[in-house]
Amino acid sequence: MSNNNPAGKRGDSRVPRHIAIILDGNGRWAKKRGLPRTAGHAVGAETFRRIATYCREIGVEYLTVYAFSTENWRRPEAEVSTIMKLLGKYLHEAIDTMERDHIRMKVFGDVQGLSPELRALVDKTDEISQRYEGFQANICLNYGGRDEILHAARRYAEDYAAGRADGELTEDGFASYLYSAGVPDPDLLIRPGGEQRISNFLLWQCAYAEFYFTDVLWPDFTPEELDKAIAVFNSRDRRYGGVKG
Ligand code: IPE
Ligand code: IPE
Ligand code: MG
Repeated sequence: MSNNNPAGKRGDSRVPRHIAIILDGNGRWAKKRGLPRTAGHAVGAETFRRIATYCREIGVEYLTVYAFSTENWRRPEAEVSTIMKLLGKYLHEAIDTMERDHIRMKVFGDVQGLSPELRALVDKTDEISQRYEGFQANICLNYGGRDEILHAARRYAEDYAAGRADGELTEDGFASYLYSAGVPDPDLLIRPGGEQRISNFLLWQCAYAEFYFTDVLWPDFTPEELDKAIAVFNSRDRRYGGVKG
């Protein structure tokens, strides 16, 4: 598969410019094998690596994944701390890959709620991302769609009060306060793991995303599964509220 895909086309198929994925099903994957839930998170991190590489190869420009929600703190402390350790390990290893392959990687979410070690890794990935153009992976970490909108509203209000923003707030203007500022909206949202809900993911940005649900659990997700989702995406008729021309 080549990376020479400037038009985002592959054969007859259009590759979505921005794919978002809710990484769900790690715990059930592990349970089915008699393993602790955390074993599923470890395999899920490897799946992310493989799918991100594949997205880049086929010409996807942005991949945004939901890795840890503002609600996931409700899980048992031992599971949360293992997930945080895995995320730290992942970000640490990703730094080398970013430098080698000139990849941008951003974290979307409330980083103030993360440990100082994770925050330092986020600063580092931000700094490296500034040097490159091209494929961008966004990891949603301590992320909630409502939290993001509230956070943006507060920042806008602060700017307005300080005279840095006028009162003419537009959709684009508001979007520039979101964690996803500068990133186009997702075209395709994929949720593996069998649930058919949004679970507080990209509430603003998914206004016109195409949704694709599959029972495949995230650790079992493969490039072939991604191809299937893209084929379904290509069969959809996106009207954005208009009529078919
Ligand atoms: C997704 O897998 C990972 C996180 C939410 C951190 P789950 O841990 O939700 O797996 P299931 O849904 O329980 O199988
Ligand atoms: C959504 O999965 C959050 C992430 C994948 C990070 P959950 O497993 O937390 O969602 P619910 O609880 O099934 O809605
Ligand atoms: Mg789940």
